[in-house]
Amino acid sequence: MEKSGRDQHKGELEAFWMPFTANRQYKSAPRLMTHAEGMYYQDDKGNSVLDGTAGLWCCNAGHSRKKITEAVSEQIAKMDFAPTFQMGHPLPFQLAERLSALTPDPLNRVFFTNSGSESVDTALKIALAYHRANGEPQRTRFIGREMGYHGVGFGGISVGGIGNNRKTFSGQLLSGVDHLQHTLDLDRNAFSRGLPQHGAERAEQLEQLINLHGAENIAAVIVEPLSGSAGVILPPEGYLERLRSITAKYGILLIFDEVITGFGRVGDAFAANRWKVTPDMMTTAKGLTNGSIPMGAVMVSDFIYEACMSGPEGVIELFHGYTYSGHPVAAAAALATLDIYEEEKLFSAADRMASVFEEAVHSLADCPNVVDVRNVGLVAGIQLAPSSEGIGKRGFAVFNRCFHAGTLVRATGDIIALSPPLILEADHIDQMVTTLAEAIRQSA
Ligand SMILES: Cc1ncc(COP(=O)(O)O)c(C=O)c1O
Repeated sequence: MEKSGRDQHKGELEAFWMPFTANRQYKSAPRLMTHAEGMYYQDDKGNSVLDGTAGLWCCNAGHSRKKITEAVSEQIAKMDFAPTFQMGHPLPFQLAERLSALTPDPLNRVFFTNSGSESVDTALKIALAYHRANGEPQRTRFIGREMGYHGVGFGGISVGGIGNNRKTFSGQLLSGVDHLQHTLDLDRNAFSRGLPQHGAERAEQLEQLINLHGAENIAAVIVEPLSGSAGVILPPEGYLERLRSITAKYGILLIFDEVITGFGRVGDAFAANRWKVTPDMMTTAKGLTNGSIPMGAVMVSDFIYEACMSGPEGVIELFHGYTYSGHPVAAAAALATLDIYEEEKLFSAADRMASVFEEAVHSLADCPNVVDVRNVGLVAGIQLAPSSEGIGKRGFAVFNRCFHAGTLVRATGDIIALSPPLILEADHIDQMVTTLAEAIRQSA
């Protein structure tokens, strides 16, 4: 008798407690990737799977890029590790310089981390350190946003606004955090192309929170320029500008969490560049190394860094850092990644492809149960009405059908997110959208 998927893999799969996964469901019918190149994965059965999600919003230059592989191999053979606490090695200095050239001024200082979650917690801590150094130590409150995703550290889930990520831990979240309303508004903005027209006024709620808590007590506001993990929630036109002007008026730091919007996703180096709104700090990760080696970075404005440098010389200015902050192998991967982005002009390539992508994803509007299609750059969200079986069931069915038909998409509840590598071509878009349309029909 043929063994079921679960029996076959029992033992092999049991020990790994998988992140953000329905473990028992997955282990009963696993989806295992074994190889990847360019726009495609290959699964353990040899099937080719088109990558509609750049891995997890990170492999922006496509998979298994030779330049990165070689840079990593060379560096690991030359020097596997050197500390960056009271020591240094050349690569993170070079990388910081390259990154500061990509970000708007005055975001010229870089603190390295290993992930988006660490970048977020680092930025929140730097905000507190800055206000203390600047003579306003009572500025300790943070403002996040409903539906925001800022990773899984205690800081990140506190300023984040996704209920499921917070509920289990609710007794121990950071105190002194409040949230703005999210910007999803299907009544006014359904089937938007590019930034939605309506909703900039939701930024004005910040004034209400300032009235409630006192500007003098608020350290920072943190938002994703566009929320990816909650299911592609876009900033209405003018919204980010308003947040910027209100935070500037009250001396509150503005942090953009650019973990998924960084490195070309919206057709420019960062959303800040694209939409010409400059925050005081920016968190990044993912596309920084093309997903190849874990690494994150916080881009910090000069004035924040300089304020923190005001104590006596010879004393550590910020009691914060990770053993692997600026890891040489990760830095080598990041430098090679930036070379690829630059040599292949991938950010403008993404911008050029965005209109073809937009046309294609909006063709899904006619499929059954589609209640919204929204897109910007190389990101799209296709929102489906939940099935009678419950929230998320239809989204998962579509994801699973797409996978078995050879295309990887991502489902958040009943929202399907697409965020393909920036190297994609028109025939990849065709394949992605045709597979998705069929899967949506079959899941009606
Ligand atoms: C906006 C944002 N911030 C932070 C994170 C967390 O990054 P990581 O999973 O690398 O910790 C993510 C991950 O998807 C993200 O989308």
